[in-house]
Amino acid sequence: MQDIDNKLITSAIDVARRAYAPYSNFHVGAVLVDTEGKTFVGCNVENLSYGLTICAERSAICTAIAAGSREFTKIVIVTDTKEPASPCGACRQVLAEFNPEMEIILANFHGKSLRFRLSELLPRPAAGILDRP
Ligand code: THU
Repeated sequence: MQDIDNKLITSAIDVARRAYAPYSNFHVGAVLVDTEGKTFVGCNVENLSYGLTICAERSAICTAIAAGSREFTKIVIVTDTKEPASPCGACRQVLAEFNPEMEIILANFHGKSLRFRLSELLPRPAAGILDRP
């Protein structure tokens, strides 16, 4: 694991601590990196209705898009769990909109991390959709 990735993990842990998750008590932090090396953070924001909850990954995407960035190379996602947790299906699809080959680093608060390509977690996200008759 590179030094830079360790820094991204530390920053994702900081943002996870700011998550608003009074219902699940499951705090998620994400740091998205663009092609210029700029970073954008996100955390989960829950709601009394449950269904309106915003995941950390999509929160980071919204922050980045609002800041004018659209080309992403990597996302680091952290949770305070024994095993690093995987992004939900909705977040995988939203990440794939911008780069289906994005690097995904999943980490916990205690130094364990796993590395994937988004295409491994979500194969063929848009196959066939764009060439409909
Ligand atoms: N959560 C995320 O922020 N990202 C995911 O990929 C999975 C789940 C949040 C949503 C909710 O606030 C809590 O984790 C429990 O599902």
